[in-house]
Amino acid sequence: MDAWAGELQVGEETSAGPVDHYLAALHTRLKALRDGQVATYIPELAKVDPDLFGIAVATVDGKIYAAGDSECTFTIQSTSKAFIYGYILAEYGREAVLKHIGVEPTGDAFNSILLDEVENRPFNPMVNSGAMAAAELIKGDSPEARIATMLDVMSRFAGRSLFVDEDVFRSEQATGHRNRAIAYMMLNSGMIRSSPESILDIYFRQCSVRVTCRDLAIMAATLANDGINPVTGVEALPREYIQDVLTVMNSCGMYNFAGQWSYEIGMPAKSGVAGGIIAVIPGQIGIGVFSPRLDRHGHSVRGVRVCRELSETFGLHVFRNHTNTSAVVRRELFGDLVHSKRQRTPEELEILDKVGKKICLVEVQGSLFFGSADRLVRRIDKLADKAEYIVVDLRRVHDADQAAHRLLIELFDWLSARNRHLLFAHVLPEGALAPLHAVLCDHCGNLDETVFAHRDTALEWCENHLIADAASGRDLTKFSLSDLRIFTGLSPADLKILEATVQPLVFEAGQTIVREGDEARLFFVVTRGKATVCLRLRGGDREKDGETLVRIATLGPGLTFGEMALLDGGHRSADVIADERVVCYGFSVEHLREIGNEHPHIFTIILANMMRDFSERLRRANDEIRALEG
Ligand code: DON
Repeated sequence: MDAWAGELQVGEETSAGPVDHYLAALHTRLKALRDGQVATYIPELAKVDPDLFGIAVATVDGKIYAAGDSECTFTIQSTSKAFIYGYILAEYGREAVLKHIGVEPTGDAFNSILLDEVENRPFNPMVNSGAMAAAELIKGDSPEARIATMLDVMSRFAGRSLFVDEDVFRSEQATGHRNRAIAYMMLNSGMIRSSPESILDIYFRQCSVRVTCRDLAIMAATLANDGINPVTGVEALPREYIQDVLTVMNSCGMYNFAGQWSYEIGMPAKSGVAGGIIAVIPGQIGIGVFSPRLDRHGHSVRGVRVCRELSETFGLHVFRNHTNTSAVVRRELFGDLVHSKRQRTPEELEILDKVGKKICLVEVQGSLFFGSADRLVRRIDKLADKAEYIVVDLRRVHDADQAAHRLLIELFDWLSARNRHLLFAHVLPEGALAPLHAVLCDHCGNLDETVFAHRDTALEWCENHLIADAASGRDLTKFSLSDLRIFTGLSPADLKILEATVQPLVFEAGQTIVREGDEARLFFVVTRGKATVCLRLRGGDREKDGETLVRIATLGPGLTFGEMALLDGGHRSADVIADERVVCYGFSVEHLREIGNEHPHIFTIILANMMRDFSERLRRANDEIRALEG
């Protein structure tokens, strides 16, 4: 397989949908248009059937829509100039290329003999003079190698092997005296150094490459897709040069019609005298049209109409604004109502009820670029008037550019100076936000306090700090049995009876304390350390013994788990795993039941406490759902 062919092959046509129907109707309607003349100045081109007409649209995710003669081949002609210009930019860099070829529109025809005498270079790479200067820069040790390079460049864009039509090439070589004149004038003024014939040889061949309008659509879609061929997945041009190519296509691609084209149709485009046109809507689609009859500017009459109608019908003018920065903040939630999965003791919950508003969770969505990031940053700055801890949840952000990186870092520094904590959640070292992760790693000193894989752990970090601050020296992790809510209301004598049944238990980090499905014999009170309640589900966020686990809750000192066994005596409904060294009291369910037989009030009080806890938890869960839904 050729290097440029790649492995993805997503461009196959599937069953007809709305866009196919639209294109078919457009094709039928515009087929009636018979204005214009086929190019005859290259004799071989005059042989074409003037009625041929194909339309193709390729999306940046590799879907191809086509109508009419979309598989009919013709020569690419001047449309090639855009791709060769991209190639030399990538080979030599912007500055070096600018020394050879300018970027000024001429307002003249493609074969204008006008040259920029002041800068001593052709005006732009879309007119013949500029394209010849570009052709001189195509690399290769021999004429054959240079032709192979030229074909390779265009084949990468098309995603298949392209070839030169030798008949058209010979026809053009035999009659292209105006181009010859331009080349000799450039040699005369030092704009080119090689022999004009060697440059013309490659330039005429580049114009004589055979393509279909389906190829043109894919080539245009490759420009729309930041240089990656959307069908093969192969890079045809590094992303950094796409902007340069599209800019000159926009200002110069349609020659002395470029201004009106840009005004009315508004798509970077390039035409060829064989009747092909490409147009690019960055980030969306590439259009390829073929119809040989040309207008007085040398552009396909039907091709111009197709692009005009597509632009008007679907609002594709590139200066039409499709961005909406106002939706960047999806939701703002506060720590008095929305909590991490860390279970809290009543004292801790009381603190969060009181001061939880100091934690603000900002859910961000969409794409982060200057406009949206600026809006986000201003909103967070405002929230920081009251909130001390701000968690920026980026789970729904699919892209953040360098402007967004810069603004988020400035915000981080600004808020640090205001004694505020800015935390970023769902920023991972791989995936779409990997560049932001790298920038934050470089910039923010203590990553454990700034960059989090999940918003839950970021929230937990904030809650821990808020609780520690509010407890001001009191150790909320020290308690006696009488402090436990489950035993509230029991007399010292009752507690003594219970104490006799307690087993002290120690679990090391990573150890499974309770396993889903096991018989429930004990219920536990955590006295030291942290343990996490997990469900074994597909798509979870932790892995243990080859299975994925979803965190349901994390429990710390003073919290109980496994108490449901007292109610149903059944099996464990989830795993509980020690996050660190955990010290627990274990109460035997069987002993408690025996105690209950002898001292029924003890059992009744414990059950009543459990019911109260369950209903409180339910109420809190309802409040949280209300906050999340609101
Ligand atoms: O230079 C020429 O004459 C042709 N081989 C290419 C010209 C061309 O396609 C002009 N574009 N509309």
